[in-house]
Amino acid sequence: MTTDLKMLLNTDDFRREARRRLPRFVFDYVDGAADDNSCLRRNHSDLDALTLTPRVLRDTSRIDTSIEVFGSRWALPFGVAPTGLNGLVRAGGDAMLARAAARNGVPFVLSTAANMRLEDIRATATDALQWMQLYVMHREMAARIVQRARQAGYQALVLTVDVPVSGNRELDARNSFRVPFRPTARLGWDLATHPRWSVSTLLNGPPDFANLADLGQSADSASMQAALLSRAMDRTLVWETLGWLRDHWKGPLLLKGVLHADDARAAVSYGVDGVIVSNHGGRQLDAAPSAISALPDVVAAVQGRIPVFMDSGIRRATHIAKAIALGAKAVFLGRPLLYGLAARGEAGVEAVITMFRDDLERNMALLGASQTEQLSLMQHGNRLGRSNLNC
Ligand SMILES: Cc1cc2nc3c(=O)[nH]c(=O)nc-3n(C[C@H](O)[C@H](O)[C@H](O)COP(=O)(O)O)c2cc1C
Repeated sequence: MTTDLKMLLNTDDFRREARRRLPRFVFDYVDGAADDNSCLRRNHSDLDALTLTPRVLRDTSRIDTSIEVFGSRWALPFGVAPTGLNGLVRAGGDAMLARAAARNGVPFVLSTAANMRLEDIRATATDALQWMQLYVMHREMAARIVQRARQAGYQALVLTVDVPVSGNRELDARNSFRVPFRPTARLGWDLATHPRWSVSTLLNGPPDFANLADLGQSADSASMQAALLSRAMDRTLVWETLGWLRDHWKGPLLLKGVLHADDARAAVSYGVDGVIVSNHGGRQLDAAPSAISALPDVVAAVQGRIPVFMDSGIRRATHIAKAIALGAKAVFLGRPLLYGLAARGEAGVEAVITMFRDDLERNMALLGASQTEQLSLMQHGNRLGRSNLNC
């Protein structure tokens, strides 16, 4: 029985639908986190614990949700976080996410671990806001990807810095999840009970790391694919060597996975253009603080010199408002969009974006804010209940 898309009213509804449609090992890969999921839970409980006090008798007859970032206008104060292996959730998942983002005027960040070529994603909407996320397993490989991203017209580069090694994802280990698939009895049952997904994957072929297929002379593709799969990164990459990346990328450079105020200050001093406060959706260090609780210190540390973004745990538009009230320029959404992708493909992603947009407009009116920037002023008016945050 198919649930009417209109009856999927919130992120939890989309999550339930995704769980129904995906084989268990894929759902667990998307939904799961590290160790005991405590960081994942903190992301949600800290966001939920915050309150926003509405202002009344303000003109909210016109709500403007747009913001300006690096000289470009975003229609909404959120973007699509980079997620690897979107092709496992849906064949062509990267393009579906990119097209839905473009139609709605929000940026799409393509992962190094994408299943479609970065040039092909760019071709889906040439005037769209598209950023490239970088994992560095090998410097020459990374330089080649950056060069291709530059040539293809990606507007910003996001270096993910919270994956020196992979987090401990026990669900993936239990499910023997690895690419390429190696059949186990459990996997066989999983596939047999999700025929729609299995047939589609059979017809389209299993996803691969499309951007590592052609690395020219620079690095051996097979070993890079294996390194990416096991998240074996170049652990010699440090602040002092960031300059190496700057030689290859002159545009806006962001660090994703910053949680400490001193690291945020270092980012400014090393000429980084933006930071994304993130704990990778709880998928890396389980003891890490929630992203929302780390945000105020990072915002204070950069003193407005560069924009601060946030992801990890955003499930409602009020969460977006809370992040902006604590100083974020905008946020990124990870799993909610993947649940939409699993539930209905591109239409599901579109529905999730629409849900967040409607929810944001309603809540801005309820808060007495007609423009996104006014959400950030709420903090200065001390209208934010902060008692439950360790900030
Ligand atoms: C299935 C999945 C794959 C991800 N892959 C990547 C990736 O390739 N690169 C990256 O920087 N972050 C990756 N992330 C982290 C997201 O970019 C983002 O930080 C996280 O999903 C935000 O938390 P949320 O899912 O609670 O919104 C991934 C997250 C998920 C759920």
